[in-house]
Formats: sequence, structure tokens, C-alpha cells
Amino acid sequence: MRKKIVAGNWKMNTTRPDGIELAKAVAARAAEVPAGVGLIIAPPFTHLCGCGKALEGSKVELSAQNCADHAKGAYTGEISVDMLKAVGCQWTILGHSERRQYYGETDEKLVEKVKLALEAGLGVILCVGENLAERKAGKHLAICASQTEAVLKNFTAEDMKKIVIAYEPVWAIGTGETATPAQAEEIHAHIRKVLAGLFNQAVADDTTILYGGSCKPSNAKELFAQPDIDGGLIGGAALKADDFIQIALSF
Ligand code: 13P
Repeated sequence: MRKKIVAGNWKMNTTRPDGIELAKAVAARAAEVPAGVGLIIAPPFTHLCGCGKALEGSKVELSAQNCADHAKGAYTGEISVDMLKAVGCQWTILGHSERRQYYGETDEKLVEKVKLALEAGLGVILCVGENLAERKAGKHLAICASQTEAVLKNFTAEDMKKIVIAYEPVWAIGTGETATPAQAEEIHAHIRKVLAGLFNQAVADDTTILYGGSCKPSNAKELFAQPDIDGGLIGGAALKADDFIQIALSF
């Protein structure tokens, strides 16, 4: 059975002290969340060490929001997978649409990043999703399939045990406009078909696929009730511990 996960992507929000308080507040309520539901938070780089300490003794796991596409060396401003491991990260988000859109993240770079992350023993939350123009043109299934294939064709069924996929329609991120449960389910089921083609049915059945995009306590339940939606990658609502935990209680 694939794992259910609720992950919080804090993006570029909170200062370090505020972030540590938020991590503590999430950790304090984590025991309310059933054992079968994993919790992950992804604070900014500068907070990882302090947030990791705040999570000690709780079930909440720590994720970065990105990593470098090189192992080490002269790459000013970058953060390597070994650095993330050393501050206690178990995960990194990769390929978020904001990184693709604003920072020129390409599929080629993503392949390198996923390789490095897996080699370092980090789990990967790989994001895919279409923008509004692509959805209006009826290309959403094709775009999500091609983003998934472009990266994952370079990996094995074994690697997939450490990879979670997050479907995040760009038009639903931070806009308050959520994909309907049916719209999200359609893509999730399609991604699962793509995984069956790339690997096999067992990988398709076992891979956790999260939904992200204006997911909040008021809509999480109907999204998570869909057969192929295994949880959420939460932005804005992850900045309030109570909302984040409420979402994790929505299965
Ligand atoms: P919002 O929940 O703020 O729409 O953000 C979703 C997201 O991009 C998570 O990675």
C-alpha cells in the first residue's frame, strides 16, 4: 500500500525564529495524525537546522525546497545534497513550478538533482503541473505526462521507492482556485498510467502522488477522498500549524 503524506512547502516565508516556532507547533500536534499519514515540512534553507531540532522526537520529517545540480565546488549561492543531509533533511522538493518558471529549472537539471538527492539518501518530492494556457488548450494530460517521463525515464523501479510525485496545476497555486477533485483525480490517474508504462503496475500502484494548489482544511477531505490522490503538498495553509494538521486529519 502506498503511503499517505501531507507535506508543507513554506516557500520563502517566515524568518528563522518564526519558522522554528511553527515547526514546534506542528511537532506538538503531530501525534494526533494517524500513523499511516506521513508529515513533512519544507522550510527555507536557513531554518533547516533549527527546524530539524524542533522536530526531534516527533514523526514530522524535514525537507528542503531545492538542491544544487552539482555535488560540490565552485557554485556560488548553491546548497548541496550533502549539506542538506548534514542538517537532518530526509527529503527535498524538486521541480516546483516556481523554480521552473522563475529560475530556469529544466528537465535536464532536474535529472541531475534527482540523481544526487537519491545518491545522498534523500527522498524526492518531484513536482509536475500544467499552466492555465496549457489547460485551456486541453494539453494538461500531455504536459503532466511529458514532465513526469522526461525526468523519471532516467530512473529505476528501485529508485521510485524514494520518489513521491506532486501534481500542482500552476493556475491553482496561491490563487485560491483549487482544481476540482475530478480535475485532480483525472491527472493523478493519468500519471499513474504513465508510471505503469515507464516501470510496471506495481510501481504505479505504490507511488504516492500528492495534490498541491490552494489545498486547505475546507477542501482537503474531498480531494483526499479521490482514489489516486494520496495527500497534499501545501503552500499557504502550511504556514499555520492548526490548518496544516487539520489537512492531515482529512483522510
Ligand atoms: P498554495 O497551497 O499556496 O496554493 O501552494 C501550493 C504549492 O505550490 C505547494 O508547493
